[in-house]
Amino acid sequence: MKEQLEEMLTEMKDAAVQMALHCGKLQLAAFRSNNIGIDTKSNVYDVVTKVDKACEDYLLAEISRLYPTHSVIGEETGQHLHAESEWAWVVDPLDGTNSYSQGLPVFCVSIGITYRGECMVGVVYAPYLDELYTAIKGQGAWLGKAGSERINSLHVSAKTALKECVVASGFPYDKATHPVNNIREASIVIPQVRGFRRMGSAAYDLCCTAMGTIDAYWEYNLNLWDVCAGQLIVSEAGGIIVPLAENRKISIIAGPEKLVRLLQETLTHC
Ligand code: IPD
Ligand code: CA
Ligand code: CA
Repeated sequence: MKEQLEEMLTEMKDAAVQMALHCGKLQLAAFRSNNIGIDTKSNVYDVVTKVDKACEDYLLAEISRLYPTHSVIGEETGQHLHAESEWAWVVDPLDGTNSYSQGLPVFCVSIGITYRGECMVGVVYAPYLDELYTAIKGQGAWLGKAGSERINSLHVSAKTALKECVVASGFPYDKATHPVNNIREASIVIPQVRGFRRMGSAAYDLCCTAMGTIDAYWEYNLNLWDVCAGQLIVSEAGGIIVPLAENRKISIIAGPEKLVRLLQETLTHC
């Protein structure tokens, strides 16, 4: 039974990797061209491109071809639910659209596969960097490259003092109107840490946290597709994820336990 489940998860991970690599090709084909078709969504800060939509259309078609009974939750097209299925694919077809639309290189596709609401497989691919992050529940987290057999096992940072850390975070699209916009919080954390990065992709921030190149990460007001795969990649790399705020959709701190607790102490007293 256990072996059967493991085989199934590996098969789904391999399928998700192929899909992520294809999305990466679509993203690179239009990157820094004048053919990305930029539009806005909830407000002027929240952008979407033709490439976000093309990647999501491809993912939907491919998931329903290979796993016709599975549900899909996608950022651009919402929920495609199969009541009888306990499996759901949670996809962000292009995470880091703002950077992508500017011609900046940190962007990725994120695919999480959940069983009864729990993420079992996470795949994040950043095509410009050719970084492929994968994790399977209970089996570890890995970094590889497209078409390469070589993979490295991921481990969160071993640091224990905030002053030695480089941390990452982000700011929500409703930053101009919502009081919990992370600006005060970031201004309190920044003097306490060695470095602060705003890379513009929550999924990539989580992968860097899993790898320890970012020591810890926090953000308010995220959506499931931003974090589904990345959270599993962090926990399979030995990190923890704790909730940060109520009534701000998904708000989290991620990283090694010691640093998460230190950040939690600072952020909850802001
Ligand atoms: C955004 C990125 C960004 C985060 C935003 C997300 P999108 O996703 O992950 O880093 O700060 O909250 O919405 O819009 O590029 O898919
Ligand atoms: Ca996103
Ligand atoms: Ca997106």
